[in-house]
Amino acid sequence: MLHVAERSARTDLLGQTPTCPRDPDGRPRVFASGQGAYAVDPAGNRWIDLDNGRGSVFLGHGDERVAEAVARAARGGVGALTGWSPLLDDVLGRLSELLGGDVRGVFRTGTSALRAVASAVRAARAAELGVERPLLLSAGYHGYDPMWWSDEPLVPNREGVVDFLFDLDVLAEWLRRPEEIAAVVISPDFIHLGTDWYVAAGELAREAGVPVVADEVKTGLRYGAHLAAPELQPAVWTSAKTLANGAPFAVAAGDAALLAEFETISYTSFLEPTVLAAAAATLERVATGEPQRSIGENAGRFVEHARTAFRERGVPIEIAGPPQLFQFVCASPELEDAFLAACAEQRLLLYERDNQAPSEALRGEALADACERISRVAASLAGRWSDLEVDDEARYAAAWYVMDGLPGLPRTREQTAAWIERLWVDD
Ligand SMILES: Cc1ncc(COP(=O)(O)O)c(C=O)c1O
Repeated sequence: MLHVAERSARTDLLGQTPTCPRDPDGRPRVFASGQGAYAVDPAGNRWIDLDNGRGSVFLGHGDERVAEAVARAARGGVGALTGWSPLLDDVLGRLSELLGGDVRGVFRTGTSALRAVASAVRAARAAELGVERPLLLSAGYHGYDPMWWSDEPLVPNREGVVDFLFDLDVLAEWLRRPEEIAAVVISPDFIHLGTDWYVAAGELAREAGVPVVADEVKTGLRYGAHLAAPELQPAVWTSAKTLANGAPFAVAAGDAALLAEFETISYTSFLEPTVLAAAAATLERVATGEPQRSIGENAGRFVEHARTAFRERGVPIEIAGPPQLFQFVCASPELEDAFLAACAEQRLLLYERDNQAPSEALRGEALADACERISRVAASLAGRWSDLEVDDEARYAAAWYVMDGLPGLPRTREQTAAWIERLWVDD
């Protein structure tokens, strides 16, 4: 057995490639423990964690209340996997109160929730429209399931999913044939799109009489104790990454008729008590709105500090989006590479190029530590990039990476086609 400080990931044993922080050679970074705002590597280096399990560790690593609840459940103290428990009633009650909906389904991953929603909504709408397989108009990531992948933009893929890349003109074009459309499935983003976009998209769908599915796996309950994009007035919605502090738990809720197929869904670990305990303990906190407020305030300080440091050092990096999920937008790919290397050097653990998701544990000393580290990152980049600035090219590239689509910048239909052609090739 290797000494713990030398341990490297046994990727040769795994046929999958999990999304996780990696070194420049693509090898997964290994962490031996997680403590609040920190992930600690086997050599004992304490990394400030801004990835937080792709935004699912909302309260912080090893959160005491969640850990206690999970430990009790693991010892059999709050139910048995074999059957229904008061804990499940508790979780369902909390979900119902927080997220509403006629009915709901619980899942282990966002991907499986979205797959189930897509199947259920399509079945219900197929019956309503008298069409065998009505189309799904999709924008954003909905999980690793190939059903959402397209070889070509803006046209139906083999599964009848059209990726409209968050372009409202394209959405409007497809909605001119509402009798062929099962639903519009949108993963909200607040880094490159504002509330106006959701108002407009919701109106387009309502005018066409097509239901909206809001895939709020990432955003649901993140900015407050509510959905992030109520303007969509969704008929069905999902939520996951804020619900159980990293435990495998996702929910889909909404219109009973559209979700009728949920009745057929069960799986062996459905009633597993540690997952339910993690959800109950996390939801108790999330329902108060306090973690969201606290992250907004503390991560907001970090973001302001970073902005000032970049400005003072003449480093052309913008920070886009609210502090709960923000993105570093670098003026050029070369600067981005240098920035990522400098962050690794300072042990600032990023969801590289994507959205940073600070946890509630980023406060006090950890926050001060994070600010010092980003100051050192800015200092190390000073003077080398001051002739560059963040332009539309950089903003489009950043949006494409984080939201799998186009930002809400003004453009003509021709410009949309040109951007897609460039970005799709680079995809
Ligand atoms: C909007 C959205 N939908 C679905 C998923 C898939 O969730 P999971 O990774 O839990 O399968 C993600 C994951 O990042 C997501 O951000």
